Amino acid sequence: MNTQPSARLGNVLLAVAGGIAAYKIPELVRLLRRAGHSVRCVLTEAAGEFVSPLVLQTLSGAPVRSSLFDAGEEGEISHIELADWADLVVVAPATADRMAKLAQGLADDLVSTVLLATRAPVLLAPAMNVNMWSHPATRANAELLRERGVHFEGPEAGELACGWEGEGRMSEPVTLAGRVTLLLGGETWKGVRVLVSAGGTREPIDAVRSITNRSSGKMGFAVAEEAARRGAEVVLVAGPCPLPTPPGVRRIDIETALEMAAAVEQEFEASQVVVMAAAVADFRPAEASALKIKKEDLAPGAGLQIELVATPDILKGICGHKGDRVVVGFAAESHDVVEAARRKLARKGCDLLVANDISRTDAGFDTDTNAVMFVSPGGEVEELPLLPKIEVAGRILDRVEKLRKGTR
Ligand code: C5P
Repeated sequence: MNTQPSARLGNVLLAVAGGIAAYKIPELVRLLRRAGHSVRCVLTEAAGEFVSPLVLQTLSGAPVRSSLFDAGEEGEISHIELADWADLVVVAPATADRMAKLAQGLADDLVSTVLLATRAPVLLAPAMNVNMWSHPATRANAELLRERGVHFEGPEAGELACGWEGEGRMSEPVTLAGRVTLLLGGETWKGVRVLVSAGGTREPIDAVRSITNRSSGKMGFAVAEEAARRGAEVVLVAGPCPLPTPPGVRRIDIETALEMAAAVEQEFEASQVVVMAAAVADFRPAEASALKIKKEDLAPGAGLQIELVATPDILKGICGHKGDRVVVGFAAESHDVVEAARRKLARKGCDLLVANDISRTDAGFDTDTNAVMFVSPGGEVEELPLLPKIEVAGRILDRVEKLRKGTR
């Protein structure tokens, strides 16, 4: 596997919006150029108040554009040519207003028009006051944009220029430059087959009833999406869930733990990386009634005995013959997370355990964000901040890359 994300250099169109964090953009331009990318800057009208176009022009080595209707600028390179030129469009700082414009599809100035016209991936680096970032309107816009495949880096938590503390700081230029290189790195996982399990299982009691759990499948789907984006051949074994299949992913729908075990075993042989994000039922009814169990057959107050039997531990099973594959397991814990995760990793025999605390409301089941810890066989723990699941997926795959290279 080619693990050099900087293998492909690209054309980065940097759209600078009017926020105080724009003062950091010259440094970003410098880092992107140093990484070998071609950079062109477009500014919103307000951005010019925070950063000098001349500085950006000098550092990028290309004319800076800011007006949609300037005949001279448009004659040099039209807004559509700019949109087509870009391999990646970065909006930094991405203000609340710019996010709203993009979410709504407005095209009333150069930056918004280019963003609508481009077919290149878009990376937003939000920066704003913490209350603006947490406003329901901004949350909804961010959610919508993420669903459309727009990438986000940050914002980070900390001291804000407005005097408030909290989430809203633009990520540092070095972080943004690294993310750009990764996004442009393209298909670094080409030739790697990744098997992902996702979602809960559904264990039938009778013709209509079943035992299931609250897993939404979002974490596993994010891993599948990110692996496919990196060029891997991805097989996703999915429990019942309404999520759309990520682009380029082969999906195998299953219902029960036994069906998942069969599908995983079948696909395991040809895979080099396995990520078991599914919440597999640990017990299933020993026998499922083919007919619906009728309530009237039961006397009032009578109990209904359902005998449960253990399902196979799929993860443990595959780890027993994993060879040089990298296998990642998950652990959803409600208390003593680290200790429980360490024990689980030892019991299952996987290469990495991704543990999350399901007692939090902003992480774990059925959320778009997750706060996880990486637990390694040596017992080391790395705690990640609360991140969108797609970003967590990226971090997991970064870790898997290191494991495959033997550097971790
Ligand atoms: O033992 P526990 O269910 O907490 O372990 C969670 C991890 O094991 C997850 O990676 C899950 O996909 C996997 N698992 C499995 N087969 C089971 C139960 C869990 O592969 N029967």
